[in-house]
Amino acid sequence: MSKSWRPATQLVHGGTTRSQHGETAEAIFLTQGFVYDTSAAAEARFKGETDGFIYARYGSPTNDMFEKRMCMLEGAEDARATASGMAAVSAAILCQLKAGDHIVAARALFGSCRWVVETLAPKYGIECTLIDGRDLANWEKAIRKSTKVFFLESPTNPTLEVIDIAGVARLANQIGAKVVVDNVFATPLFQKPLELGAHVVVYSATKHIDGQGRCLGGVVLSDKAWIDENLHDYFRHTGPAMSPFNAWTLLKGIETLPLRVKQQTENASRIADFLADRNEVARVIYPGRKDHPQADIIAKQMTGGSTLVCFELKGGKDAAFALQDALEVVKISNNLGDAKSLITHPATTTHKNLTDEARAELGISAGTVRLSAGIEDSEDLIEDFARALSRIKA
Ligand SMILES: Cc1ncc(COP(=O)(O)O)c(C=O)c1O
Repeated sequence: MSKSWRPATQLVHGGTTRSQHGETAEAIFLTQGFVYDTSAAAEARFKGETDGFIYARYGSPTNDMFEKRMCMLEGAEDARATASGMAAVSAAILCQLKAGDHIVAARALFGSCRWVVETLAPKYGIECTLIDGRDLANWEKAIRKSTKVFFLESPTNPTLEVIDIAGVARLANQIGAKVVVDNVFATPLFQKPLELGAHVVVYSATKHIDGQGRCLGGVVLSDKAWIDENLHDYFRHTGPAMSPFNAWTLLKGIETLPLRVKQQTENASRIADFLADRNEVARVIYPGRKDHPQADIIAKQMTGGSTLVCFELKGGKDAAFALQDALEVVKISNNLGDAKSLITHPATTTHKNLTDEARAELGISAGTVRLSAGIEDSEDLIEDFARALSRIKA
């Protein structure tokens, strides 16, 4: 396998191992266990003296292909595939912490991620400070002697705020803390957190990596030493492993990731520009537009815009519901990264559990809508929005 392959090649060939049949498509090894020729061979495998699998909760061949392919793409030394994105996030954070430790996290997080650091971690004596992560001074101010982890998502869900990953990593390195980045919204194609200095990257593979709305999955990527010291035992003994069937589905999904993300980004960019000119729309937030409030950081750390667009309708919740209900090509769904364009109203769905105050802090108003652009023809999407916007009462 060549490390110098470009992403499109890595994503088709990376990590593939073939059985004795020489199959073209990756094989699904749906097995719980593995047999050994002799007792001595079993003993040697358990001692780590020979390579090979022991039990599917620890690792298995199809998952191994998926992990290796993700490592190539991300530039990581090692990875573990998990049953969902949330299994990846919670494992990446909790595996390295103990009672008395402290997390600093950007407050603009996907709801379940926020619950893990804000509600779950404190139950085990791990404290968390949530900050406005856009300002590096806030990260610095929140540091305590016990700070061990910095956690962030960039761009954020749903308001597409951006955090200076290299800046956060510099602060973390000064105190020996680890930076964990949830890179779902950027995709592995447009942002490389490890190159920017982050220590651990997590994905919900459910999103762009599958990209066709089929199965859940997640992955944690880092250097080998971090995985060996922190994740290895946690992963084996708490059991968040991905199903081999899902690993196979994701291996097939990831082959077309660059094609899909390119089309989704072009569609998102066109729709963002179209919406920005409409009277019904108060503001559009899109990382590919020059008017994004953090365009300078985006230019430094991202190589593409985004497949998501966030916008605010002047008419509040009524206008948001009217728009969503009038769309025909674009479907109402809280999922994202799919081949199908999906739209959601965060205040009543993904972010409904936050207090009004917390929503306001994140810039989520009653009129905020999040679009995940699919791979349809952009003309059909623009026509769909034009027709639906005309239904909104002024
Ligand atoms: C940014 C982000 N992180 C994590 C997750 C969780 O992923 P999953 O649904 O695969 O558990 C999501 C899901 O929407 C997400 O948007």
